[in-house]
Amino acid sequence: MNNWWKEAIFYHVYLRSFQDSNGDGIGDLQGLINRLDYIADLGIDGIWISPFYQSPHVDFGYDISNHKAVDPRYGTLEDFDKLIEEANKRNIKIVVDIILNHTSDQHPFFIESRQSKDSEKRDWYIWCDPKPDGSPPNNWQGFEPSTWKFDEKTQQYYYHYFYVQQPDLNWRNSDVITEMFSICDFWINKGAAALRLDAINYLVEDPELKDNPITDGVPDYLRNIYQFNQDPIHNLNHPDNHEVLKKLRQHIRSNHPEDPLLIGEIWVPNTQELVNYYGTNDDELQLPFNFFLSTLSQLNAVTCREMLEDFERTLGNFPTTVVLSNHDFPRSTVRYSQEKDSDQVAKLLATFLLTLKGIPFIYYGEELGLRDNPPDTIEEVQDPRGKIDWPSYKGRDGCRTPMPWNNSLNGGFTEGKPWYKLPLDYQQRNVENQVKDPDSILNYYKQVIKIRRNVSALRRGNLILLGDDPNLLAYSRTDEKTQAIIVLNMSSDRCTFELLTSPTFVTQSWSILLSTHNDVKSKTISEKISLQPFEGLIIVPN
Ligand code: NOJ
Repeated sequence: MNNWWKEAIFYHVYLRSFQDSNGDGIGDLQGLINRLDYIADLGIDGIWISPFYQSPHVDFGYDISNHKAVDPRYGTLEDFDKLIEEANKRNIKIVVDIILNHTSDQHPFFIESRQSKDSEKRDWYIWCDPKPDGSPPNNWQGFEPSTWKFDEKTQQYYYHYFYVQQPDLNWRNSDVITEMFSICDFWINKGAAALRLDAINYLVEDPELKDNPITDGVPDYLRNIYQFNQDPIHNLNHPDNHEVLKKLRQHIRSNHPEDPLLIGEIWVPNTQELVNYYGTNDDELQLPFNFFLSTLSQLNAVTCREMLEDFERTLGNFPTTVVLSNHDFPRSTVRYSQEKDSDQVAKLLATFLLTLKGIPFIYYGEELGLRDNPPDTIEEVQDPRGKIDWPSYKGRDGCRTPMPWNNSLNGGFTEGKPWYKLPLDYQQRNVENQVKDPDSILNYYKQVIKIRRNVSALRRGNLILLGDDPNLLAYSRTDEKTQAIIVLNMSSDRCTFELLTSPTFVTQSWSILLSTHNDVKSKTISEKISLQPFEGLIIVPN
């Protein structure tokens, strides 16, 4: 079915941290296979796996040296085949992470490109002469203070948006396009149902390499992921990206009749720009990531309502995603709660994530309410970014801790030495304990997922915002058969929600299907409902 993904729930596995099967301290494909029953039991339809290709691992797999091979740390191509087979048995689709913007500097293409100015692959990357004073061609910044690295051998700079070891490919070169499209084909032919396209709005840069305007700090829409002080208008979201994406979609469509899903990592300043990535006639990405909710600096009903209004206005019925966490920024619990409220907020966020209009992506461990465990010292840092700006920015290790499965040594993640420390509270907060506890966050996730399956309005209904309470976010979801009202108290105060705020509902009688708080006195409700701090409710007609 071409549109299987429209009502799917995705689970994002940071492979390195999920489950180790061979004692080297690094999660791997076999480990993931061993845990497929857990994911199936949660109620997941698709798994996005972070990159597992051959790589020097400067950026833990986002620096690829061979796109068509599995890195031995993660397993073999046969393991991937087995993963597809086992996932199929459980009706789970696999999403692979494809990195088209750059390669590793150890990739044979780049090794060849840097050999000489006449190399056949010279134009596959972006090379440029220094300015007359020897400085880089422009002021662009990315993961490092400059995106340009001077190469002694040929006396030119090469461009790398991310680490020095991740040179950008030149997408204005047609051989690059052909080669990279063949990589997409390779993984689709191996059974991937969807591609998550890394940094896909960074492919094409301004041909004149103009300086970016300097700003006071990082622009709001990029606050989760960068530290620089410029607006990257000339190297992110360049209009020429769209032409490439049209070619990509056309290529995929004509080579794979099932029209595999293309999900794009897209950071844009506003929803209007996001809309452009669907193309003019469903001819670019089916699903550009919508990250706006994850950029909220705090959980706040007023700002959430404004954002949702904007989604309704601008995105309308385009399929969109709901993302609160991923492997690049602190987890939602850390961003939106104090430690003392963390578990309540985790359940509230689960309700939010799984009842909004959009396709939910659950980042592994969110279903346990994991909190980050950032490095305490620079020696502990694994992600190079944590070293570049230490201590003002500690990198991304904190949100990538190994998954705690039980309370044994290393939480059952590995029998060896884990590549990074586990969450601080893993001996209490782990899968085994939460499976046993009916009030756990894990069991709460399972309940909401089940409700989403049973109430079709939550998967495909319209969304209408209700009321204007500064602490309560409320909305209804309605389709031709079913209806639900969701009320989320985003504050630490008690609040009251009046069903009367929407005249459409006056005549109906309603009851509480699920509450984040297990001590709800009565399931049947009148016009006024009192909510405890951070309580979330799913209400349905009787
Ligand atoms: C975005 C990925 O999500 C991030 O983890 C990675 O470092 C960069 N792209 C570079 O590939």
